[in-house]
Amino acid sequence: MLSAILPLVFSALALASDADTHPFVPPGPGDVRSPCPALNSLANHGFLPHSGQGITVPQFVQALKDGLNVGAQFATVAGTAALASNPTLFGATSVDLNMLDEHNFPIEHDCSLSRKDAYFGDDHTFDQDTFNQVLAYFDGSEVATIPAASKGRYHRVQQSMATNPELSYGALQFVLSYGETALYLSVLDNPLRGNPPVSYVKSFFENETLPYNLGWTKPEIEVDFETLQPIITELILANGEVIPEGLTLDVGTLISIWELKDPITGKLRNTTCALLGLC
Ligand code: HEM
Repeated sequence: MLSAILPLVFSALALASDADTHPFVPPGPGDVRSPCPALNSLANHGFLPHSGQGITVPQFVQALKDGLNVGAQFATVAGTAALASNPTLFGATSVDLNMLDEHNFPIEHDCSLSRKDAYFGDDHTFDQDTFNQVLAYFDGSEVATIPAASKGRYHRVQQSMATNPELSYGALQFVLSYGETALYLSVLDNPLRGNPPVSYVKSFFENETLPYNLGWTKPEIEVDFETLQPIITELILANGEVIPEGLTLDVGTLISIWELKDPITGKLRNTTCALLGLC
């Protein structure tokens, strides 16, 4: 009898989808979250620890792969950069998501798509007014196209330039910010195309959910630096923003900024140089 039932149980388990095994559970008291909609969604769906605390690089690697089909190269480099947010810094082997709030080092920056600049207060919690500025560029369309996403991102830069007297927006923020737009377009669609439904984009940013309920599944093709680079190039071409002098936008540059290197000089960044606005 048991031998007849076991195969059925195993095949049912094999068929269980991510949506079944990783339902959305909003953060509760004591759970912490970050300025990153992807990491928050992964924690809300239990791919990362739901508490958002004590996350190691291997946990980032596993969660990004299982939840979003993001490759080990990106996850290792970005996860290692995240450890630099831990105030104990030297020798830290894990990080809490709320530690990633730290402004300008190693990752958090101005001109975000859905968060206010640090100058205006809370730079890490989702802010609908800010995100509405980006959404306006998708007006009337069901699909978040690369040109519209690019113009929405560039609007945020121009808006910060006009209003934030303490704005930091150099080569580093340029690459990080284009990279983040390329990331959401990639994981919410096929990373060789980058045209997800606007409904997925809204769900991901506004509710910090992986939009299984709208029909999304993680991309079949793995997202990594190699797939992000051409999307970033398309995004830049779509709004004609001038590339900072001396910046080469190849895969090596993308990797080096997540390795905490200045994208132009290649020198290692640290908190002091970030605070002094020198990198
Ligand atoms: C270990 C991996 C990762 C780390 C440490 C990380 C960290 C961060 C941090 C600190 C920010 C804030 C930047 C800002 O101030 O705007 C951010 C933003 C962002 N991240 Fe992540 N991230 C990771 C992986 C991902 C992945 C896989 C995606 C895929 C969609 C993603 C999508 C985004 C987006 C779209 C933003 C921009 C949010 C905004 O501008 O409002 N991230 N990330």
